[in-house]
Amino acid sequence: MNIDKLSQSIGKTIEIKGWVYRMRESKDIIFIVVRDSNDVVQCTIKSDNKDFEKAKSLTMESSVIIKGSVVEDKRAPTGFELKISSLEPVHIAERYPITKDQSPEFLMDVRHLWLRSRQLTAAMKVRHTVVGAIHKFFRDRGYYEFDPPIFQPSQCEGGATLFQVKYFDDVTYLSQSWQLYAEAAVFALEKVYDMSPTFRAERSKTSRHLAEFWMAEMEAAWMELHEVTEVAKDEVRFIIQEVLKHNKKELEILGQDVKKLEEMVKKPFPTITYTQALEILSKKESQKMEWGKDLRTIEEDLLMKHFDTPVVVTNYPKEIMAFYKPRDPKDPKTALCFDMLAPEGYGEIIGGSQRDTDIKALSESLKKMGEKPENYGWYLDLRRYGSVPHSGYGLGVERVVAWLCKLENIKDAIAFPRTQRRFKP
Ligand code: 4AD
Ligand code: MG
Repeated sequence: MNIDKLSQSIGKTIEIKGWVYRMRESKDIIFIVVRDSNDVVQCTIKSDNKDFEKAKSLTMESSVIIKGSVVEDKRAPTGFELKISSLEPVHIAERYPITKDQSPEFLMDVRHLWLRSRQLTAAMKVRHTVVGAIHKFFRDRGYYEFDPPIFQPSQCEGGATLFQVKYFDDVTYLSQSWQLYAEAAVFALEKVYDMSPTFRAERSKTSRHLAEFWMAEMEAAWMELHEVTEVAKDEVRFIIQEVLKHNKKELEILGQDVKKLEEMVKKPFPTITYTQALEILSKKESQKMEWGKDLRTIEEDLLMKHFDTPVVVTNYPKEIMAFYKPRDPKDPKTALCFDMLAPEGYGEIIGGSQRDTDIKALSESLKKMGEKPENYGWYLDLRRYGSVPHSGYGLGVERVVAWLCKLENIKDAIAFPRTQRRFKP
């Protein structure tokens, strides 16, 4: 039986399978806190039980099968305990290397064991809900799941963060984004989405950057900027609703304020422009920023002090944007693009745009970045045969999980994080 179901079995005899979480021993009685993937329960065994010696042989993280009766006990941490009738060790664990107060670096070295911690178990469960919600959101709205190649011959988000890999006798790169291939797919499927591994050789050692992360992207034909930003808001709102529906317990373990999320999800998520964002920074934060520079972490955080929901920021300066973001004809210094920023210092969770359909403008932007337009021939072809306005965006799965779980570092939003300094175990 799952440990979280025990409270419904008071007075009954049941069997649980799990791992020793904590143990306390006195002469006549042993208290064993057992955990499974659902919860923990205090179990007691007395010295007159035939299995008392077996219980004594248990160590932290030993696996065990226990039969017993569930009884109410106000002193037990969960209000009831399991009185053991029989106990069978399955495997006696060696001395467990993780004890209290260990350094984050050590916990990363033993990540394969640290995954069992309550904190990481809770974060992995929230991640499971977030991923399921994304699939459900798009499938329910008629989007097709479309898988990209992971080996890609060119950049999408700037050459500086490309991972080069040996490819037989040639070289190629790991995917920085699914987008360029999705732009080909919309001519067949119109509305597509995907969630796949994404790679960036990020040199910045921040609490927001991974070298390998999962991006959930969408792309839709016939869609313009003002429409795609609304899809993004609906998606994030749906993800929060699903997490609130399935993971209240995990949010509490992680120290996240459930009420705050419940309030947030009822409010509209505002849209402002980059230029308005600079005005807020200048008027309310006395942070003067030169028009044309990208918002850095510090400016995003100052800006978000003035919002308690996610915010969409549109129309960043064209010159600092990726090559595929078109100039806004109504405000030509800017591009038809957007980011969604999360509150409380979690920064950018989504980046997206309308896509440039003008071959000349695209070629010029590529040249400015030092790229050869010939290498993007297939991509430019998409503008030659029945071109249509289209838009899309990418959501950083770990950024969203870190934000909703109130994690200090994005590394705990993924089981085995990859950063510049760490790619093991
Ligand atoms: O803003 P980005 O770079 O946008 C794109 O890649 C577009 N091609 C997506 C599209 O339009 N289809 O990345 C999208 C999101 C960011 O907002 C952020 O949440 C996440 O991906 N992200 C990262 N997450 C973790 N570690 C990193 N190094 C990340 N880089 C981007
Ligand atoms: Mg971005």
